[in-house]
Amino acid sequence: MSEETTNSTVKLSIDGQEITVEAGTTVLEAARRIGIDIPALCYHPVLGGAGACRVCLVEVVAWGRRRMVTSCVYPAREGLEVYTNTEKVLRSRRAVIAMLLAKAPAAKVVQELAKKYGSTEPAYEPSDPEARCILCGQCVRTCNELIKVGAVNFAHRGQERKVGTPYNATSDVCLACGACQNLCPTGNIRIRDKRDLRAMLTWHTDVPWNKCSKCGQSYLPARLVEFLKQQCPVAAELVTICPRCRREGTAESFVQASVLADDE
Ligand code: SF4
Ligand code: FES
Repeated sequence: MSEETTNSTVKLSIDGQEITVEAGTTVLEAARRIGIDIPALCYHPVLGGAGACRVCLVEVVAWGRRRMVTSCVYPAREGLEVYTNTEKVLRSRRAVIAMLLAKAPAAKVVQELAKKYGSTEPAYEPSDPEARCILCGQCVRTCNELIKVGAVNFAHRGQERKVGTPYNATSDVCLACGACQNLCPTGNIRIRDKRDLRAMLTWHTDVPWNKCSKCGQSYLPARLVEFLKQQCPVAAELVTICPRCRREGTAESFVQASVLADDE
């Protein structure tokens, strides 16, 4: 069945398959919708693409011009032809992976891509064989755009470019929420939960636990609890109680409500 396009939709072809998507959809998202696999490291459905890692390169033909673009940030357009698997795409992807392998030789996700695309030699001698950061910026975007705390950022330029806290010092604002770790594609962010605190090892920051106001158990980093209380004052009481006491409280209210209903 052919799909009609409207003002808010565009029709394009990807590897010969036609697809109609909402305007604003990226080529990567359109390809994924029809099951075409394009590798992507700095894309996350919540954050969108960053165009930073460049493994998602594809070839497009638009207005008679053929060129390479990063599909995670390139918008789908009416009449666009996309090719995800040409010799040129595969060659470029291998070259990008070789660069990533030199930058982050210990990153498992990069090693797997290297194996899959046959690019197992790093582009240059890695300066740190244990490095796992590809400088994709997902942690920076998560902390700045999603959590809106801005505890980590990029620092320096060129070969010295890094992500970290300002001056690589202990952060006064990091909530130890762990969102950056969840979205880091390479597993570079190390967190250790200790008896009294959560240690954000990669960010050189320790945040003590908050103790449940009912049972005294540690359950969330204290700064995160304060943050949640500010974000949602009506839920302030709820966030100061650990999940177990919350569940028990709910169960208790439920039992009381059932008893009252039986008495009526
Ligand atoms: S720590 Fe992870 S998320 Fe942050 S830039 Fe490095 S690879 Fe990307
Ligand atoms: S996923 Fe597109 S540049 Fe990283």
